[in-house]
Amino acid sequence: MTLDYLAELLTAYWFAPPVGLWRAVELRVAAEEQYERPLLDLGCGDGLVGQVLFGKEGHADVGLDPWADQVRRAARTGVYRHLAVGDGHHLPYADGTFATVFSNSVLEHIPDVGRVVHEVGRVLRCPDPNTDQAGGHFIFTVPSDAFRPFLDGYVRRMADGHVRGAEAYAAAVDARLEHYHYHTPREWQRLLASAGMTLVKARYYIPQEVEQFWDRMNAGFGIAQRRSAWAMLVSPRLRALGYQALVRRIVVRILGRRWRRYYEMDVPLGEKGGGLLIVGRRED
Ligand SMILES: C[S@@+](CC[C@H](N)C(=O)[O-])C[C@H]1O[C@@H](n2cnc3c(N)ncnc32)[C@H](O)[C@@H]1O
Repeated sequence: MTLDYLAELLTAYWFAPPVGLWRAVELRVAAEEQYERPLLDLGCGDGLVGQVLFGKEGHADVGLDPWADQVRRAARTGVYRHLAVGDGHHLPYADGTFATVFSNSVLEHIPDVGRVVHEVGRVLRCPDPNTDQAGGHFIFTVPSDAFRPFLDGYVRRMADGHVRGAEAYAAAVDARLEHYHYHTPREWQRLLASAGMTLVKARYYIPQEVEQFWDRMNAGFGIAQRRSAWAMLVSPRLRALGYQALVRRIVVRILGRRWRRYYEMDVPLGEKGGGLLIVGRRED
């Protein structure tokens, strides 16, 4: 049975529903891949995504993240057999340890990403001609080269002929989300090749209409602002008042219905989307 990732992710991110929408589309697409074990979830964060994606299959072998507090939270999900506080630049694993390295929404936050891709190539299993075993796979999602021009704030400013305003808007989003790059599939292909991997798949997701809606919803929920009515309503400091479980149920029920068409929308053939799923395979 296919999981309803929209309901799952709105439940997990009820306090930031647009995050839930983006992640839901991401996981709907990522769930179509095969995840051979042993598997490393690189930049696992709090483990919520790993729990939703791998929980139904029992486990993910290893989760790694530089942020100790996030790793502690990931431990609570119970989905990882091993967890480590560590950095993708120096993976504490022997060559050829993993059949799959998965990384969701991580690489865009790393400025010198080539070194991390190189480390992933090193820890992935090489093909074995004696057993016909294929090389290990690196499966990751990132915002794509279309992410900036598909932002609603960017599109509207460009339509008004306000090029500098559009660039400033996108730059503010980059800074807020700590995005350092938006590589094209071709650029990812080169990065993978320099680490001994071939690109076997590049798939865009989040059509422009969905990203524009997502960007408007970020503004609507005041996600970019520290002080908004929504931020106050969902503040962890008010948890003790007990009403937030009701807010979560309302979010899941209402947005689970109203946002479904955005969740289900695929990128038309030959067009770009704001997100990109890449699969690389380790070669000799
Ligand atoms: C947007 S979060 C995504 C977390 C998780 N993968 C998910 O999908 O929910 C980005 C994560 O990348 C991690 N990260 C940042 N730099 C990293 C690095 N150099 N090596 C490994 N992880 C890194 C952060 O600590 C953070 O948990």
